[in-house]
Amino acid sequence: MSVRYPSMKHHFARVAPRYRQMRDLDMSAVREIARIVRQLAGSGLRLVIVDVGSGTGRYLEAVLAACGLDSTRPCCAIRYDATREMLCDRPDSHARSGGTAMSVVGLAEFLPFATHTVDAALALNAIHHFQVTRFLAEVGRVLRPDGKLIIYTRTPEQNRRTVWGRLFPRFADKEDRLFTEEELATALDQTGAFGKVELLAISWSVETNLSRLIEQARCGAYSTFEFYSRREFQEAVETFAQSVLDHFADPSRIVVQNDHLLAVATKKRRPRP
Ligand SMILES: C[S@@+](CC[C@H](N)C(=O)[O-])C[C@H]1O[C@@H](n2cnc3c(N)ncnc32)[C@H](O)[C@@H]1O
Repeated sequence: MSVRYPSMKHHFARVAPRYRQMRDLDMSAVREIARIVRQLAGSGLRLVIVDVGSGTGRYLEAVLAACGLDSTRPCCAIRYDATREMLCDRPDSHARSGGTAMSVVGLAEFLPFATHTVDAALALNAIHHFQVTRFLAEVGRVLRPDGKLIIYTRTPEQNRRTVWGRLFPRFADKEDRLFTEEELATALDQTGAFGKVELLAISWSVETNLSRLIEQARCGAYSTFEFYSRREFQEAVETFAQSVLDHFADPSRIVVQNDHLLAVATKKRRPRP
């Protein structure tokens, strides 16, 4: 549960311009998150939704589009990220229909929002970058009673089963920041702010090809690659390319399976003092 953000600051600034193209979007998760957000929006009041560690905001845009919410509806959606360069990214025309309204630069551990003002806080592919105790305490403060914290992440086991975990040398071993289900549930419980916590496994597949996989590695689509020395990385890419050729019959059409964990925590009406 270490904090490595300072050493990742340059990484995220460097990858920001290509981040949207380099990462795959899990539409199963988008639909599930949209379902939860729609329920929160049901009251008809103005909905405040903050995506913490939003990166470019690609997931937030997709969720808003799937909900049928945009800036003309009573919704305030905020991309919130420590890396300014990520927030400079502009949505493509399709995503723009989802309409994110605001971008704020800041740390997950110090949320600049008033107490009990946020309906939904998202942390998607991001919680392992945060100082988790501090982040959860802050989310527990800013969420309104019955508001939702929605965490989307990979457990260490799920990471090990990805194409990277299986075929890219030492990828799963080097990635020691991810939380197990139990660690996440314990951290949420220890805040005293959350009641019900639902854990949902999401499976999704992506059609890709060898060139894209190599490009993703070389562009640093995953911050795990930062833990390799230059030479070690180069050798690992070569071994990975060979392993992909050995494992898949057609390198121009590779279908990979991914599993993620969606944790939905509901803010208590009366948090433990
Ligand atoms: C792996 S990216 C995920 C981005 C986005 N949620 C997505 O799935 O496309 C993690 C993001 O968290 C941000 N980040 C890392 N540490 C942070 C912190 N302590 N506070 C706020 N943002 C942080 C990074 O700048 C980066 O944009």
